[in-house]
Amino acid sequence: MEIRTFRQSDPEYLLSLLLRYKILRIPLGLTFSAADLARDKADVHIGIFRGEEILATLTLTDSGRGSIQMRQVAVDDAEQGRGIGKALARYAEEYAKKEGFTIMHCHARAVAAPFYKALGYETIGAEFIEVGIKHYHMQKKLGAVL
Ligand SMILES: CC(C)(COP(=O)(O)OP(=O)(O)OC[C@H]1O[C@@H](n2cnc3c(N)ncnc32)[C@H](O)[C@@H]1OP(=O)(O)O)[C@@H](O)C(=O)NCCC(=O)NCCS
Repeated sequence: MEIRTFRQSDPEYLLSLLLRYKILRIPLGLTFSAADLARDKADVHIGIFRGEEILATLTLTDSGRGSIQMRQVAVDDAEQGRGIGKALARYAEEYAKKEGFTIMHCHARAVAAPFYKALGYETIGAEFIEVGIKHYHMQKKLGAVL
C-alpha cells in the first residue's frame, strides 16, 4: 500500500471522487454539485493506494489562522475496520504539521465520531445537520514537528 497527496488536476483525483461518491454520497441519495468540485480545486487530497486501486481518501482545506479541515474521509467498504482510516488521518496530521498548521478540525458524522475520538479529537459545541444527517464539530491540536 502507498499513501500520497495529489491535487484536483492529477489522475488520482477521479479515483478519489468515485470513492467519495460511493461511500459518502450514494448512501445518502446525494451527488456532487459544481460548487463541491470547485471547492476541491484549492485543496490537497490524500489517498491510500494498492497498485492502481484506491482504498481510502480524504481532503484537506485551509481554514486560515493555522487551522485546517479534514473532510470527505472515506474508506472503501471492504477495507473498513482495518486501521486504514487511522493511517490516513495520521498521515494527514503529519502533512498538516509540516505545512505549519496547528489545529486539525472536521465536521464528523455522528456515526463516525467514535473514530475521531479514538484519534484524539474533541467535540466542540452542539450537534448540527449537514447533508441531512447529524454531525459534530471536532478538533485536535497538532503537536510540534519533531
Ligand atoms: C469512518 C471511517 C473513515 C473509519 O475508517 P476505518 O478504516 O474503518 O477505521 P480504522 O479501522 O482505522 O479505526 C481506527 C479506530 O477508530 C475506531 N472506529 C472506527 N470506526 C468506528 C466506528 N464507526 N465506531 C466506533 N469506533 C470506530 C476503531 O475501533 C479504531 O480504534 P482503535 O485505534 O482504538 O483500535 C470509515 O469506516 C468510513 O469511511 N466510513 C464510512 C464513511 C464515513 O462515515 N466517513 C466519515 C465521514 S465524517
